[in-house]
Amino acid sequence: MKKLILVGLMFLYAVSGTALAGDAAAGKAKSAACGGCHGFDGNSPIPAYPKLAGQNEAYIVKQVHDFKANTVRQNPIMFGMVAALSDQDAADIGAYFQAQSVKDVAAFDETKLAAGREIYKGGNMQTGVPACQACHGPTGGGMAGIGYPQLGGQYVDYTLAQLKAFKDGSRKNDDKNLMRTIVEKMSDEDMAAVANYIASLK
Ligand code: HEC
Ligand code: HEC
Repeated sequence: MKKLILVGLMFLYAVSGTALAGDAAAGKAKSAACGGCHGFDGNSPIPAYPKLAGQNEAYIVKQVHDFKANTVRQNPIMFGMVAALSDQDAADIGAYFQAQSVKDVAAFDETKLAAGREIYKGGNMQTGVPACQACHGPTGGGMAGIGYPQLGGQYVDYTLAQLKAFKDGSRKNDDKNLMRTIVEKMSDEDMAAVANYIASLK
């Protein structure tokens, strides 16, 4: 009996402890400080800053958490930006950006699309690279339910920088090394090709 109660309590804790539900309306006001770089609707106007429009709440909350911890994903600008955010703030802001949508594809190099598409859709059997779409979705929408990020329409420079950061280990916040085990098998050309294909998705 005691055991049953304990299991029941643990279950309750697990359910209530998984995620705070974000409130998009509250998040809109709280995200004002983010809009200067990421765009007020998450469509960042310049490639130096990633688009957040349509990005899923769970992923945004995790990144805010990781920037705050400043260990597995470090960025001096974002470290300062998230310092004062509570978990509830992060959830609200995440809910707000998730409710927006990517307005446009990003600029891409047409000559790299075919090679990029091949990797994104089918991976590379020879080198053991899995198809990106298995986790990031056929059109780059990600998987909101499990917090896998949306990639579609993102700036080439940003996507490429993240792939390189996973490869050189400066970004290591991917649970179970999901991304690091993939990029170690990719060449610079592969990464550039797939980053251009991703920019073309919407
Ligand atoms: C001064 C510019 C600036 C401001 C203001 C800013 N950011 Fe950022 N943000 C960046 C940069 C630069 C990056 C890319 C960091 C990297 O390369 O890892 C980033 C990355 C992010 C990411 C990761 C995106 C991804 O796809 O992984 C999230 C989430 C984020 N910012 C949320 C916020 C939130 C929430 C706020 C407001 C509280 C905010 N940012 C304010 C510059 C800014
Ligand atoms: C097995 C699942 C899986 C596969 C396959 C996969 N990814 Fe990922 N990817 C993830 C997860 C999970 C994350 C988020 C890591 C984190 O928590 O920050 C991620 C993050 C990323 C990011 C960073 C996004 C951002 O906004 O900062 C990029 C870029 C990316 N993946 C590209 C790719 C490409 C290109 C491929 C194919 C060559 C690929 N992924 C295949 C699971 C996967």
